[in-house]
Amino acid sequence: MGDLLCLEDWQRAAQARLPGPTWGFLQGGSGAELTVAANRAAFDRRVLRPRVLVDVTKPDLGTTLLGDPLRAPLAIAPMAYHRLVHPDGEVATARAAGECGLPFVVSMFASRTLADIAAATTAPLWLQLYWLRRRDALADLVRRAEAAGVRALVLTVDAPRVAKRLRDLRSGFALPADVTAANIDPAAMAVMARTGESGSSIQSHSREQFDAAITFADLAWLRALTPLPLLLKGILTAADARLAVEHGVDGIVVSNHGGRQLDSAIPAIDALGEVVEVVAGRVPVLVDGGVRRGTDVLKALALGAAAVLLGRPVLHGLAVAGAGGVTAVLSTLREELEEAMVLAGAPRLSDVDAELVR
Ligand SMILES: Cc1cc2nc3c(=O)[nH]c(=O)nc-3n(C[C@H](O)[C@H](O)[C@H](O)COP(=O)(O)O)c2cc1C
Repeated sequence: MGDLLCLEDWQRAAQARLPGPTWGFLQGGSGAELTVAANRAAFDRRVLRPRVLVDVTKPDLGTTLLGDPLRAPLAIAPMAYHRLVHPDGEVATARAAGECGLPFVVSMFASRTLADIAAATTAPLWLQLYWLRRRDALADLVRRAEAAGVRALVLTVDAPRVAKRLRDLRSGFALPADVTAANIDPAAMAVMARTGESGSSIQSHSREQFDAAITFADLAWLRALTPLPLLLKGILTAADARLAVEHGVDGIVVSNHGGRQLDSAIPAIDALGEVVEVVAGRVPVLVDGGVRRGTDVLKALALGAAAVLLGRPVLHGLAVAGAGGVTAVLSTLREELEEAMVLAGAPRLSDVDAELVR
């Protein structure tokens, strides 16, 4: 692992190791993948404005989020089926999150049980949800999350259905028989087992099982079900951020699902400013999509993010070296952020403000 110096190195190493269709599922996006590319370009377009002659001998990246202390303003984004890339799956990812002192947002489609994941880690676990038509299955999952000690729920709101992903259709990507959604009632997943080709069956499953009729008014049902903090993931406009806060959410994740849902959606980092402005500090605003370097994280923090979620690079680390790979990826990003803060003359998170980025 000594020659893997940055997250792009881990990406290359993961690509060399994974079967083509798995790589396509992990790395790909929807449509023409315009938003996948735009997420990266939007970070690269921005520049930092460093201050000098500041005492930077004691950089401090520590923060708190929803009451939990974090060693850096970073967390692991929810991603389905970690066992696709490593036999230990989410258990290994959780172990790494614990070692790094960072939260892990477990996908509703995790391939290990919540109990196993929770037993493997000291990290705060959050659970991501899609709104299933079968509310009894949703309620049951929330109850198991509470029992497993999950600290928050993250409702993904940018996926009334799963978008068409051409790479998966072209490669005939299918989930292997031993990789399943370990926390969901098999009856709710039956359609996936029935149809052989999973590229399109993930899509058809979402059409049958996801409730595409829900609106902001339905959030009250989820709030009544559980006292857990509720974040919405997939907000990209000030108008929706205002509605989210008015409906009492505890946090917002500005996200275009890593370019895997609406193609041509605005890069999340470009939408962050208007969301931060309208939220006005009432709840934490997080962001994800295209973060690959410490300077990307610094740009997001300067634009007002409370923390950044990291997606694909976590699976790259997991694919190459299991829990140790995820730890290395997260540590690399943390070290890069620390260096960026020192060199920018902003050694504490409270020094990072809008003046730092253009
Ligand atoms: C393989 C894969 C699976 C994903 N599964 C989910 C999921 O189950 N739920 C969800 O809300 N987001 C899911 N996402 C989106 C991520 O949470 C996140 O928004 C995105 O990956 C961030 O962009 P990045 O990968 O460029 O860092 C998935 C992303 C990938 C790459």
